[in-house]
Amino acid sequence: MEKRRLAAHPVKKPRIEQTMAIRGPIPNGPMHPRPLVALLDGRDCSIEMPILKDVATVAFCDAQSTTEIHEKVLNEAVGALMWHTITLTKEDLDKFKSLRVIVRIGSGFDNVDIKAAAELGIAVCNVPGYGVEEVADSTMCLILNLYRRTYWLANMVRDGKKINGPENLREAAQGSARIRGDTLGIVGLGRVGTAVAIRAKVFGFNVIFYDPYLADGVEKSLGITRVYTLQELLFQSDCVSLHCKLNEHNHHLINDYTIKQMRPGAFLINTARGGLVDEHALAAALKDGRIRACALDVLENEPFNLASSTCNLNLPYIEGPLKDCPNMICTPHSAFYSEQSVTELREMAAGEIRRAILGRIPDNLRNCVNKEYFTQTAGGVRFPFPQAPFPDSMNGAGYGAFNPAAAAAMGVHSTTVEQHPAVSHSTPHTTAHSTLADSGNHMPKAESSEVH
Ligand SMILES: NC(=O)c1ccc[n+]([C@@H]2O[C@H](COP(=O)([O-])OP(=O)(O)OC[C@H]3O[C@@H](n4cnc5c(N)ncnc54)[C@H](O)[C@@H]3O)[C@@H](O)[C@H]2O)c1
Repeated sequence: MEKRRLAAHPVKKPRIEQTMAIRGPIPNGPMHPRPLVALLDGRDCSIEMPILKDVATVAFCDAQSTTEIHEKVLNEAVGALMWHTITLTKEDLDKFKSLRVIVRIGSGFDNVDIKAAAELGIAVCNVPGYGVEEVADSTMCLILNLYRRTYWLANMVRDGKKINGPENLREAAQGSARIRGDTLGIVGLGRVGTAVAIRAKVFGFNVIFYDPYLADGVEKSLGITRVYTLQELLFQSDCVSLHCKLNEHNHHLINDYTIKQMRPGAFLINTARGGLVDEHALAAALKDGRIRACALDVLENEPFNLASSTCNLNLPYIEGPLKDCPNMICTPHSAFYSEQSVTELREMAAGEIRRAILGRIPDNLRNCVNKEYFTQTAGGVRFPFPQAPFPDSMNGAGYGAFNPAAAAAMGVHSTTVEQHPAVSHSTPHTTAHSTLADSGNHMPKAESSEVH
């Protein structure tokens, strides 16, 4: 999927004329009093509703593929929110007749054909900044566990093993190592990689990094060391942590050949993407000790379940190569998660939809990932909806634009300082207006509509 995204670059001609020809303006007026925004692969819209309900009708589909999406959404939805559990190919995108913006609730967008979307006049956005601190903290947590053996020692105590005296302890805590003075090699010094570097320095690591896409200078700002080849990084590092985005150039970056370039007995951490590591090569290296221990938050096939020795629960009888590997910690792609980060993520995604509805596409979008296909247009495409403030009579609700104070009053927790445009309103109103009310599938808590 990532390959397709990169293969899409660069596009020489602006696509907007084509777009306008294909899509044209979205009708507005009595038959279309409010734009329809659909959460494609989920049910819970409770965070999105307060942000969008004065400007849109929000529905949820809870679908895993476009075949499960109701015709009404396919025909009328102008905005779509999506997690990572649905894929939108060109064929899928073709089914949406009115769509103008898709917002991925997350940072990766390898499950959407962004080039095809641009050709159809659909802007695709992501939420790149959410959870950076959580992923960095989780990475540090995994690194510390590998060095300090905390996870294994705690399991021994839980399993009733008696560890009494220095002899016992030496045996139980074998492999525990001092951090200060060791070299941590960071592959990919983006948002997460940088946050890890800052943290790791405090623990006493000598931090080096490899990132061929960065201009010189960042190493000076951070006070870390840059190396210019992966080989050099692997050669120097006692602990290697992966933080690059998966793309067509770095699939199986860690493989049998590159593992041989690592220091014997080095640690490996991957909280980035499973596809960066050849799991067969890693399994062999763990078994013969070339890699002392590893910690993985991501695998090539997810979800994975080591208890049943399988990868991908949809294929329960296929055993992953990492089955029975010693010295390995796996977490379930949870590095980004905290209550705060997910709230922030959903608020930021809904905020982007809001900007799409009230502003110009793509100019007023903050994180449009296929913007280059739109850039040569004069000001972008505008939703054919009136600018804020929306007259109450038109929206059926007088609730104003989302703002933290209003949200707090409604019990919506926000960790962001994002400013949404203030809209004056006369009658605060918390009941969502839904044109899908007749479906009879309301989800009262989320004040949204379900459309299968
Ligand atoms: N486990 C989780 O819960 C979770 C959550 C969010 C993000 N992620 C993953 O974390 C990773 C980092 O995210 P981010 O937001 O910091 O991304 P980012 O785009 O900010 O940074 C990625 C960096 O990797 C560099 N890079 C690309 N290819 C490289 C290569 N072959 N070798 C070295 N460097 C390379 C880029 O130049 C960039 O600086 C991504 O893979 C992302 O998908 C995981």
